[in-house]
Order: sequence, then C-alpha cells, then structure tokens
Amino acid sequence: MRGNAPTQKPKETNEVVSSLKERKRFTLRFWGGWFMVILMKERISESGVIEDRELAEYYSLMAKRHMRIPCQRVLSRIKAKGIEKGRALDVGTGPGTFPIFLSKALPDVQFKAIDLSPVMVEIARKNSMEAGLRDGIDFQVGSAYSLPCEDHSLDLLLCINTLHHLDQPVTFFNEAARVLKEGGGFVIVDFHRDSSPFLIWGFNVLWKLFFKSHHKAREGFLESVRSSYTLEECRNFLKESMLKHWALSTRTVEMWIESTGVE
Ligand SMILES: C[S@@+](CC[C@H](N)C(=O)[O-])C[C@H]1O[C@@H](n2cnc3c(N)ncnc32)[C@H](O)[C@@H]1O
Repeated sequence: MRGNAPTQKPKETNEVVSSLKERKRFTLRFWGGWFMVILMKERISESGVIEDRELAEYYSLMAKRHMRIPCQRVLSRIKAKGIEKGRALDVGTGPGTFPIFLSKALPDVQFKAIDLSPVMVEIARKNSMEAGLRDGIDFQVGSAYSLPCEDHSLDLLLCINTLHHLDQPVTFFNEAARVLKEGGGFVIVDFHRDSSPFLIWGFNVLWKLFFKSHHKAREGFLESVRSSYTLEECRNFLKESMLKHWALSTRTVEMWIESTGVE
C-alpha cells in the first residue's frame, strides 16, 4: 500500500535546505569569481556609457568619497611633467572628480572635460558648482574619437579609467596626438587584464566592500578589468598610433601611459 507522504517538509528541514543552498551559492560565487579572474584571456567589451541616472549618481557619490588618493597620484604626475598652466582636456570625465580636484590644485590650467553620457556631464557640472568652481571647467558631451579641440592646442590630456570603454583605442590615441601641442603632456590610466589574478581577486573583494550597497556597481570591477587591454595589446596600439614619446608602466592592477620628456 502506498502511503500518503506529507508534501510539506518540517520547518527545520526547510532551514537546513536553505542554509545548504546558501552555502552552495556562496561556494559557486567564490569559485566563479576565481574562474572569471583566471579566464581573463579574451577581452569582453564594456563599450557604452552610463545612462542610468541612479547608477551615475551613486558612482558620483562614491567617487567624491574615495577618489582623493587617485586624484593626488595624477596631480603628482602632472607636476612631475612641469605642467602648471595652459589648456587641459579630461576624456571620459564621468562625474568630473579629477578635473574638479585638479583645477583647484592647478588654478592656472584651464580645464575642459568631456563624456559621451549626457547624464554624467550634467552630474559633473553640478559637482563642479557644488565645489565652488562656477565657470571654471568647461564640461561638454563629447567622444574620445572626435575630441572637441583645435589641432595642437593642448598642454595636457587626461583619460582616467576610460580606455577600457574604447573599442578603437588607436583612433583615440591619434586624436590625442592631433590635439596635443608638441611636447604636451598626457596621463592615461586604466586597468590591464593581464594583471596578477591574485591582485585582481584582492581588488575585486575591496571593490565589493566599497560598493556593497549597489548590486550593479558591485559587479563593476571585474567587468571593467575584462574589458581592459593587456599591456602587450596596449603597447601595439600605441606603436600603431601617431602618439609619440610615451612610456607604459604598471602599478598593481593599473597601467599608466604617460608622456615622456621633462622630469
Ligand atoms: C569608469 S568611468 C570613469 C570616469 C572618470 N574618469 C573617473 O575616473 O572617475 C568611464 C567614463 O567614460 C565614459 N565614456 C565611455 N565611452 C566614451 C567615449 N567613447 N567617449 C567619451 N567618454 C566615454 C563613460 O560615460 C563614463 O562616464
């Protein structure tokens, strides 16, 4: 005779099952994270812009809180190049954190900053006003592939954490070469996906801690690293481009492409 087995499991069994499921999910996420780090061979493009206002506002808030040290590092590289006046352009400015910080530190440098995302440009303008820089920085919607500057008119070009969004880096490097004055300085910083898996893993953990309250932002680090170029790829793009007198170096998960010259 077939028994009528109860269809509902007792409460304790449900708790055990859900705790096992949670552990399984954690284990999958943990090893999945490692797997992703190790499988960074193929670039997965993250081209496109942040149009989601809520995400853009959140990014802006976090950048204002945590970007002081990165801003200072860029400032020290600009100073090392002896650039204290003239015209500068920040490409892919996002919420404008870098030009806002730098134009306070370098009041004789006239900054223009562009981003493909109108939402980001609007936020950057607002941040600039809040920082007391009324008409200081010229924020515009614009593309890295068609810089809104005259030929050989810039003393400095910056592009921070944006190169991995660009599927045609040579076009951007050529534009940089076109707009920079002879001997003009540049600082281009981004991730490189051939960084040590241990470093990528460690920075990913830190990133998740910083961005823990936003589910989309939380996943952003690995997505950006996967979309970044390897050192070799970047070196080849630079060689192919019209940009001259560059040096490429690495610091932890970052690569820095800088003009050589005064120093
Ligand atoms: C990761 S954010 C970096 C923002 C800022 N530089 C920083 O470090 O805080 C990258 C920015 O590049 C912008 N972007 C993406 N593709 C672009 C393009 N082709 N031209 C200009 N900006 C672009 C995005 O809209 C985004 O705001």
